Amino acid sequence: MRIYREKDYAAVSRRAAAMIGSLILQKPDCVLGLATGSTPIGAYQKLIEAYQRGDLDFSAVRTVNLDEYRGLDGTNEQSYRYFMNHQLFDHVNIDKANTFVPDGMAADGEAAGRAYDEKIKSLGGTDLQLLGLGENGHIGFNEPGAFIAGTHIVKLTRSTIEANSRLFRDISEVPTQAITMGLWGIMTSREVLLVANGPKKAAALRGALYGPVTPDLPASVLQLHPNLIVVCDEAALPE
Ligand code: F6R
Repeated sequence: MRIYREKDYAAVSRRAAAMIGSLILQKPDCVLGLATGSTPIGAYQKLIEAYQRGDLDFSAVRTVNLDEYRGLDGTNEQSYRYFMNHQLFDHVNIDKANTFVPDGMAADGEAAGRAYDEKIKSLGGTDLQLLGLGENGHIGFNEPGAFIAGTHIVKLTRSTIEANSRLFRDISEVPTQAITMGLWGIMTSREVLLVANGPKKAAALRGALYGPVTPDLPASVLQLHPNLIVVCDEAALPE
């Protein structure tokens, strides 16, 4: 495990973007596992700036996202497909046909999960999986309680619904289910880049990095990954 403890969110974003950018330079057709949420937005902004400077070319990059709310299609402003288009894809020269997000609208969620894992396999797995961290220790939407390998439907916990309600008009609008990549998809990535900032993440981050590996804190499984990189700020990892 390598930990980069940065002064603030801007520095976290710069370093995370530099790592993703250098992978794209080394392997122009790399497969990136991407995350939504507030944490990666700064890194996505830096990647867009690098593209605009002419320093990065996304034309051959493939992406697979971690998760999607159940019941929201890609035109819904709260969907993760919409988020990815607006926070990154619309601003770089990526071919959207090469960008994949789990299907939140599938009637058969289990079949959609299996199909998503087949898609990841057909791409040869991910070169780098970017992860944010839930306040309750979730990664993707792998909520506390069980380690589940495949992409699956999950009932969101109260803590996650409350944390995500800041992005909705009312908490009653937050979907109660999601489809998420499981631990197989995450742990088979050749590199995992976990980003976290702010004091609200401190307890989960400490537990994930230094506590027991337990389904009660799903991110703790990352201790077993041979190539885990953590980029966080001082507030998320106080001394
Ligand atoms: C997002 C995702 C979630 C978030 C986590 C942290 O695709 O899978 O695990 O990474 O909820 O969210 P933020 O960054 O908003 O604190």
